[in-house]
Amino acid sequence: MTANEIRQKFLDFFAKRGHTVIPSASLVTSEEKGVTDSTLFNTAGMQPLVPYLLGEDHPGGKRLVDVQKCVRTGDIDEVGDNTHLTFFEMMGNWSLGDYWKEESIKWSYELLTSKEEGFGLDPKRLYVTVFGGNTDAPADNESFEIWKKYIPENRIYFLTWNGKKEPNWWEAGDNGPCGPDTEMFYDLTEEGLGDLTKEEYLKADDEQKVVEIWNNVFMEYVKESGKVVGKLKNKNVDTGSGLERVCAVLQNKDNVFDTDLFASIIKKIDQHSDLKDLRMQRIIADHIRTAVFLIGDGVVPSNTARGYILRRIIRRAVRFEKQISSKNFLSELATHVIDLYKEAYPELSKNENFILNTLGEEEERFEKTLEKGLKEFEKGESPFVLFTTYGFPIEITRELAKEKGLTIDEAGFNEEFKKHQELSQTSSAGMFKGGLADAGEETKRLHTATHLLRQALEDVLGEPIGQKGSNITAERLRFDFSFSRKLTDEEKKQVEDLVNQKIAEKLPMKKVVMKKEDAEKTGAAHVFGDKYGEDVSIYYIGETLETAYSKEFCGGPHVENTGELGAFKITKEEAVSQGVRRIKAVLQ
Ligand code: ALA
Repeated sequence: MTANEIRQKFLDFFAKRGHTVIPSASLVTSEEKGVTDSTLFNTAGMQPLVPYLLGEDHPGGKRLVDVQKCVRTGDIDEVGDNTHLTFFEMMGNWSLGDYWKEESIKWSYELLTSKEEGFGLDPKRLYVTVFGGNTDAPADNESFEIWKKYIPENRIYFLTWNGKKEPNWWEAGDNGPCGPDTEMFYDLTEEGLGDLTKEEYLKADDEQKVVEIWNNVFMEYVKESGKVVGKLKNKNVDTGSGLERVCAVLQNKDNVFDTDLFASIIKKIDQHSDLKDLRMQRIIADHIRTAVFLIGDGVVPSNTARGYILRRIIRRAVRFEKQISSKNFLSELATHVIDLYKEAYPELSKNENFILNTLGEEEERFEKTLEKGLKEFEKGESPFVLFTTYGFPIEITRELAKEKGLTIDEAGFNEEFKKHQELSQTSSAGMFKGGLADAGEETKRLHTATHLLRQALEDVLGEPIGQKGSNITAERLRFDFSFSRKLTDEEKKQVEDLVNQKIAEKLPMKKVVMKKEDAEKTGAAHVFGDKYGEDVSIYYIGETLETAYSKEFCGGPHVENTGELGAFKITKEEAVSQGVRRIKAVLQ
């Protein structure tokens, strides 16, 4: 089964069981799509759906299915082995307060094993783990009992805290929806492992003889500051199945790079390689794919935040490209990646020129300083200078040092890098870490205030505001928009007054769901060029949509009335880059 067929089969299977197929959200997290968080990219399918897991109504209903693009760079150093990737696709089905464990487990089993409707995997090669219980929540006996209908009891294991992690518990960061999960593993060995004791199973897992192919999370709890503080409004099911892994299993490969998602990319790299180094070839293949998808979602290389992650990825690919070949072939590879994926992700063809140009420019920029930087490295220049002057991401310096048996001053680099980040007005906190900001009352109030601010800016400045992004914590809101100059004190005061006036008017915040075409006609603000599902929700502030003071495409969550907000105050107005201004504000 090809990757395209696997994706389609997954979607069809759940569509047939009443699920609405929703498109993948952009890789770039943003509040406009309902995520008021501090992560830079979507790292799991659940991330763009957090508001709905917290109880908002989803326009697609209570049963959803999707294949979500994800980027995780935490394990970038592991890429090159059999399974690690920086970009991957996560297939998932969702129940938002609808079905629960019984259906979820039954359907996973059926999809995995059914020859007609599913993947036709051998049930004798399946192993399952369930949550063993801790002080946050009891053992998941219910899932165990349900699994027993499908799998012999001695291949279902209760797992508990192993000294490093809670193996059957899912959460994204310290705050937000979470819960126990049940995971499915498949035996990859030729001979078949048969029944295993728990200890034997754990060993097989360690040796990667069994691989995880699906994770069903039963999300019924909510965490704040790392502690379970209560139950969610709804019991939700969030499942995640890594497409690349499933491809490897169904195509009988022992690594993801031999599947049809990668084989032709690796082949092209090999044709250009003078040095046949498999690990380097795999890294290039992985990084080029990630770069293509990130640029396709509008990220451009820079020295801060998202742009810096992309820069690290491209430059690392360039460096390995130079190590194995005297040719430049990244652009050819990028074209090939776009070809492979354009059916599932039409945005890639749409943005093909932009992707190729951005990639080519960054490669050129790096090449200009590469040689000089290498010389400086030989002379012992500090990682920070190599970064700021020669554009060497830290991994490159680290890898060069390793090759030469040297150690580098990483602590010093981090210190200076942090200062640099603060200077360039970008929070480095959580930059490489996952973690959702809370969706608590303060955050909701600030989120609603952000909608008022956007409209007030348009009113005072007298032109449409190109929204560039926002970031909201419990303490403050941050809003970036395109505008060519500094705001005057008078203008800032007018904006504040206008927002406070709308707060004093105690206007209701309401929501309406409609077809995207109709929604666009209402004139509601939305992020241009963004991908939305067929049905979208508009949040508007006022009695009716027609008379509303503000209307925006948005996933929530919000407070119910502007009267709940308190006094709005702008604490800072500054430039982020050429033509982009940033406002920070608080509610007092
Ligand atoms: N949210 C779960 C995961 O990412 C399904 O594994």
